Formats: sequence, structure tokens, C-alpha cells
Amino acid sequence: MEPRRTAVLISGTGTNLQALIDAAREPSYPARIVLVISNREAAGGLERAARAGIATRVIPSRGFTSREAFDAALDETLREAAAELVCLAGFMRVLGRDFVERWRDRMLNIHPSLLPAFRGLETHARVLEAGLPVTGCTVHFVRPEIDEGPVIVQGMAPVLPGDTVETLNARVLEIEHRCYPRALALVAGDRARVIDERVVVAGERPFERLILHPSLREACR
Ligand code: GAR
Repeated sequence: MEPRRTAVLISGTGTNLQALIDAAREPSYPARIVLVISNREAAGGLERAARAGIATRVIPSRGFTSREAFDAALDETLREAAAELVCLAGFMRVLGRDFVERWRDRMLNIHPSLLPAFRGLETHARVLEAGLPVTGCTVHFVRPEIDEGPVIVQGMAPVLPGDTVETLNARVLEIEHRCYPRALALVAGDRARVIDERVVVAGERPFERLILHPSLREACR
């Protein structure tokens, strides 16, 4: 099977994009990153894409009068690149219902919490505020409601004494970088199917799609 043509949408640093680029270098990986689109010109991830020889486009959200017009430009760019799958990787802009439905079960997102807990922004500050012992990240299919949709892979990391937003963010990012390539491989390899709004992977039980941060395994000994 030809690797699936995948576009990655970013707004910032692009460390998740980097994880996907690195994974897709493996010849047997079922996806190929063909385009990186940013809604911010200053996004560091654009540099990562250029370094890897991947085509980039900037579609500044401020240049459009309506959400629909922005979404239409995005859709056209994705079609021009013959993208089959879309990965949102720190793409900090809400997409409209029509756009999301057009890419149903072909668009993935990563969120820095164990969804459905802590949807929205500033997840790490809220986890610390709540005093929870664990947190993590979720890769899911995108649905029109923000941070909702069938879960493909989750990662779990401990919250450790003395953690700040920065230290927790760094630990969760480490696990994000393992979860996103795994999730994209399942989707691109046609292994993840959505049945009754749940992801089913033939031959795998759901907990096998839970990745533990090494320090959590350590902490549990
Ligand atoms: C990641 O932590 C990702 O989970 C989060 O933005 C960061 C992007 O980092 N996404 C969201 O909060 C979306 N709701 P990156 O640019 O280094 O990949």
C-alpha cells in the first residue's frame, strides 16, 4: 500500500510535527507528510518542515473575513496537495462544522490532557490546581465540538511533587511525541475503524492503546 498523503496543521513550535516527520522517515511507516500548513507566519514548525524538505504554506487566519472563508482556503490547499489525512498538531484555531464533517474520520488532533477531562486551554495549570496524580494526552478523531471525538491513543504521565506548568508540559510533550506517530500509523495503516463513535483496532484491546511515560512506570514500582 502507498503511504497515505498527510498534511499537518500547526500554529507554533511544532514538536509534534517533528515527531511525525521523524516517524515517517521509516520506509515502512504508512503515512508520508506532504504538506505543513500554519495559520501563523512565525510558527517555528515551518522551519522544521523546510529542513525536512516538506512543502509549507501559511494561511493567516487574520486575512479572512469569516471562519467559512478561512476553512474554504484551507480545504482548497489540502485538495491541491491531494492530502488524504490531516493531523492537527498544536493548531490553535477552531474549525467550522462543515470543514470538520468533510474530513470526518480522516482528521486527527492531539490534546494535552486525558480527554474527556480538561478540554480547552491551560490544561496543565488546571491539572495542578486540581491536585491530580496523573495526566496525559489524547490523540482523537476530530468532531465539530472542541476536543471531542473517538479516542485513538492516549498517553499517561505522572504529576510529580514540585511540578510547575513548565515541567508538566515538558513531561506530557514527551509522551505526546510517542502517541501521535502511533495514532497516525493506526489510521494510515487502515487499522483504526470508528464503530459507534469508538475506535476499534482489530486484534488489540483498548488499553493496548494507552502509552505510559517511563517515569510513571518508575513511580508505580
Ligand atoms: C501540544 O502540547 C498540543 O497537545 C497542544 O499544543 C501543543 C503544541 O506543541 N494542543 C492543544 O492544546 C490543542 N487543543 P507543539 O507545537 O510543540 O507540537
